[in-house]
Amino acid sequence: MDKTLNITVTKASTSKLATTNFDELAFGQTISDHMFVADYIDGEWQNPMVVPYAPLQLNPANATLHYGQSVFEGLKAYRNEDGEILVFRGDANQQRLNESAKRMCIPEVPKEFFMEGMRELLKVDREWVPEQAGCSLYLRPFVFAADDYLGIRPSKKYKFMILASPVGKYYAKPVAVKVETRFARAIEGGTGAAKAAGNYAGSLYPALKAQKDGYDQLLWTDGKSHQYIEESGTMNVMFVIDGVLITAPTTTGTILKGITRDSILTLAKEMGMPVEERFLTVIELEEALNSGKLEEAFGTGTAATVAFIRLINIHGKDYDLPDVSPNAFSVQILEALDNIKYGKVPDKYNWIMKY
Ligand code: COI
Repeated sequence: MDKTLNITVTKASTSKLATTNFDELAFGQTISDHMFVADYIDGEWQNPMVVPYAPLQLNPANATLHYGQSVFEGLKAYRNEDGEILVFRGDANQQRLNESAKRMCIPEVPKEFFMEGMRELLKVDREWVPEQAGCSLYLRPFVFAADDYLGIRPSKKYKFMILASPVGKYYAKPVAVKVETRFARAIEGGTGAAKAAGNYAGSLYPALKAQKDGYDQLLWTDGKSHQYIEESGTMNVMFVIDGVLITAPTTTGTILKGITRDSILTLAKEMGMPVEERFLTVIELEEALNSGKLEEAFGTGTAATVAFIRLINIHGKDYDLPDVSPNAFSVQILEALDNIKYGKVPDKYNWIMKY
């Protein structure tokens, strides 16, 4: 039987609910009234608490500030038509958090701290799960080093926290992406598969350069040869070429094992869509764009859900993609996923946790 925790709950004296405009939710700007916090001290996770959302007190020698020993997750809670709260694939996020933690020498977070912490936070901040169509409560579990120590070694103390943020779309419009062949996001043997803070920090500079040229995101290629498409900065990426769904495999340790990616591959197979998990070369992508065989390209992620790609830049040349038609695979799969997440169809894969 799963262990149970004794979580201390301290409620906020005032709520920001009344002053939050749920009709205009941008991604990640509003945090709910409470947060979950636990400490790792003396080799044990302890002190599970839900407390009012508030700044942390950190010593300037905090190890995370200097060496970035920190990993995170992203998952979403949805409100169904009966007002119940549905969390999509929380167990997969819990496992991936610990895979990331292991790579970064962070002690694994016990399942009950993740699951019960999330449950308690959702109980206290239930009203923060939006009822607006297409909106959800984004949950951000994260773990970071808490030692005050300037030497390099894994920290001995950590904090595990969960924040909750009501969100709408991450990308409001189809995105323009640039194939990156100079900078590298990940290399084999590196930390690319971990959802580690530093991976995102390292990607900011090349992404910003591309944004200055008018692109929303990068399409990362492998860090060594720059010949193979890997993923985008905020999401995995998929292509439909000549009726086949193609996405990079996650076996090289350089690509995030996306949970939305996995869900889409599962549903695509069920829909009878031919699927190939293989590396697509930049040359192949270019040829598919030139020959008109590239039917669709889209990003997949918890925050991004399914983000349609409208333009791809390869070696300085912009290629426009066909407009997304209502019967495009990406449109169908987004609807199929949403139907599960919002509880509109039976949950045959057991992906939903109900609260
Ligand atoms: C997510 O999709 O949950 C992520 O963590 C991506 C991040 C860029 C917001």
